[in-house]
Amino acid sequence: MTTITCVEDFRQLYKKRVPKMFYDYAESGSYTESTFRRNEADFQNVSIRQRVGIDITNIDTRTTMAGASARIPVAFAPVGMLGIQNAAGEIKVAKAARDFGVPFILSTMSICSMEQVKEATGEPFWFQLYVVKDRDFVRDLIHRAKAIGCSGLVVTMDLSMLGQRHKDVKNQLSIRPNLKNMLNIATKPRWAMEMAKTPYKSFGNVIGHAKNVDDLSSLLTWAVEMVDPSLDWDDIEWIRKEWGGPIILKGIMDVEDARIAADMGIDTMVVSNHGGRQLDGAASSISLLPQIADAVGERVELLLDSGVRTGADIFRARALGASGVLLGRAMVYELGAMGQPGIEKLLEILEKELRTTMGLAGKTSMAWITKDDVF
Ligand code: FNR
Repeated sequence: MTTITCVEDFRQLYKKRVPKMFYDYAESGSYTESTFRRNEADFQNVSIRQRVGIDITNIDTRTTMAGASARIPVAFAPVGMLGIQNAAGEIKVAKAARDFGVPFILSTMSICSMEQVKEATGEPFWFQLYVVKDRDFVRDLIHRAKAIGCSGLVVTMDLSMLGQRHKDVKNQLSIRPNLKNMLNIATKPRWAMEMAKTPYKSFGNVIGHAKNVDDLSSLLTWAVEMVDPSLDWDDIEWIRKEWGGPIILKGIMDVEDARIAADMGIDTMVVSNHGGRQLDGAASSISLLPQIADAVGERVELLLDSGVRTGADIFRARALGASGVLLGRAMVYELGAMGQPGIEKLLEILEKELRTTMGLAGKTSMAWITKDDVF
């Protein structure tokens, strides 16, 4: 672990340790991948003001995100199939998040079910909802999340159609591998051994719960057919009523949409383009954050994801109007590379990077970071 100093080191190790089709599944964007690339690159266009002559002995990175306390302004984004990147992946990330003190969001398309994660961690977490055509199933998911005490409901709005990732098609991505993928898996013995041992092997939130989905092959057909192009704001009202508490809308990338949601009384939104996996050609989320913050920042709490890789990125997002960030790939790399210790190391790295950035920018508290700190 000593030579690992940053998220990029983890990405390289992850690439070596996890079967190619699962690495490609995470490390790709839709179509030309222009938005995927832009997300990270645009953070570099935001410069941070260097300040001196300020006592920075005591730096406090603590904050809250959507009402949850966070030791640093970071939550783990909902990411499908974490349990295939590393055996029992969702449970490992949830445990690391609990021990460190940041929120964890479980994807609808997780391998471990929400009940299994709750049982293993004993802690409430946030659940991410995909609104599929089968609304009875959606209602059931909401009520299951309520029953186990989930403390937040994140509703993803930018998947009313699927953006294609060429690599997944070419790799014939499946958790039932073809011969070519089997040969590649044979070169990853550590991954294969762990996967052979784990009891968590299927999509726990869906299989056995959704209508006519009893095994993996029926799930794959279901997943494609269930994407619902009709999702609109009335559905959001309905979900809010079923849930009975505040919801967090994920995938807002436009001032007009942000205003509609704010007028409905939504408290929290995630400025996100799904990590460049949906609308190829969309702007980076960091480049749109300032205008969305100007439009609704006084009424709505904003979170941001897509492209966050460093503590300096967290600082930039905070300065431009987000109360915190979600980490997608930056979490997948660590999990795939090293499992739970990888996630623990990631949180340590980000905390240190953030503290250093804050200190050298002359800020000792999250509350004092403003748009005047970047240009
Ligand atoms: C995702 N994302 C995602 N979002 C969601 O709402 N539900 C999901 O199941 C998934 N699944 C998923 C799988 C993988 C492999 C990735 C990389 C991403 C999107 C995710 O929550 C987040 O918006 C992006 O990952 C943020 O971008 P970065 O941090 O990966 O650059």
